[in-house]
Amino acid sequence: MRAALVAERTEAPALAPKRVGEPVVRVEGLNHYYGEGEARNQVLFNNHIEIPAGQLVVMTGPSGAGKTTLLSLIGALRTVHEGKVEVLGRDLSRLGAGDLVEVRRDIGFIFQMHNLFDALSAYENVKMAAQLGDASKDEIRQRGSGILERLGLGHRIDYKPRFLSGGERQRVAIGRALVNRPRLVLADEPTAALDRDATMNVIRLLKQTTMEYGAAVMMVTHDHRIIDSADRLVHMVDGRIMSDVVLHDALRICEFLRPIELFKTLTPRQLTDVAEKMSKRHYDAGATIISKGDAGEEFFLVSDGEVDVIRADREVARLGPGDFFGEVALISGEPRNATVIAQKPVDTYVLGKTDFEAALAASQSFRDQLYRTYFLRQ
Ligand SMILES: Nc1ncnc2c1ncn2[C@@H]1O[C@H](COP(=O)(O)OP(=O)(O)OP(=O)(O)O)[C@@H](O)[C@H]1O
Ligand SMILES: [Mg+2]
Repeated sequence: MRAALVAERTEAPALAPKRVGEPVVRVEGLNHYYGEGEARNQVLFNNHIEIPAGQLVVMTGPSGAGKTTLLSLIGALRTVHEGKVEVLGRDLSRLGAGDLVEVRRDIGFIFQMHNLFDALSAYENVKMAAQLGDASKDEIRQRGSGILERLGLGHRIDYKPRFLSGGERQRVAIGRALVNRPRLVLADEPTAALDRDATMNVIRLLKQTTMEYGAAVMMVTHDHRIIDSADRLVHMVDGRIMSDVVLHDALRICEFLRPIELFKTLTPRQLTDVAEKMSKRHYDAGATIISKGDAGEEFFLVSDGEVDVIRADREVARLGPGDFFGEVALISGEPRNATVIAQKPVDTYVLGKTDFEAALAASQSFRDQLYRTYFLRQ
């Protein structure tokens, strides 16, 4: 029986998903409580999320929102109370203690309490974790020192933790979590103690883990340098996943849309729905983006660069990043009342008429506000 299991392990590629297309993480209707009896306090409410292989997911949210609790349930570090957590196709609530240990072996944990062994050097700490895998001795040595070098710790390989800074210790812990090329990485503020260069190294390594080895990474962070590299952004508030946006551009679009008066009345969900429907379009300097008299088909948001709005051969406005145009004709149904020309090379996000109208229909307050803005501009 044991031999059969070992044979199965060595035949399968190290990172093959259990079943093709199966998500690495599947959470359904997850509730969680701390305390007993009268002190029982619900901290997670009906959460759902599915994470496929290869995705770098960043989780944000205020302190106490439940981010660490959610990660520790997915990491089989806490018992699931209500709802379902599946990791690599295994339903955690059906597993015994021994099987849970097996599940944890497929996971790279980067938590704030990094628990390095004080008596071991940086390299030995990483090697300890690597010995759990199936790799040969040479491979282990190469991987262990290679990963520390990539984390900028090549000169600290033989140092014991007490001779390392907080940030260096944190990076050793990251190396230890990644050395086995886990299928799932759970990270709780992994770059909190790191400077810019070290943070960039960690991001590169995590990106590589997702892109080359097909791992899923779930990371709590408020670090914008990491958020920029995310494939997906999950935002938690008061124990609930409030928004869940796939796509890098959508994040940037939301950041642009949120401060605009017009979009303030949209809920985060509606805002991300709009963001997801916008596509990126580039215009060279001098290009005409819209022409006076044309039918209005699209709404534009300036991402980078500048445009001039021209009415009756006179420039009436110069718009830059975060500004928008093109909404008037969409609302009124009349032809474009101005020409807009790229003053410099310009990147825009574009929303088609149908999606614009759908956003309008989704929110009465948004509609009211749009009409107010429209009539005020007349
Ligand atoms: N061991 C525990 N016992 C009782 N309550 C807890 C425990 N751990 C967390 N909580 C409570 O559960 C809620 C969610 O906590 P959690 O640590 O998951 O939040 P978080 O989003 O990770 O916050 P932070 O950003 O501060 O790390 C909070 O109200 C917290 O006080
Ligand atoms: Mg936390």
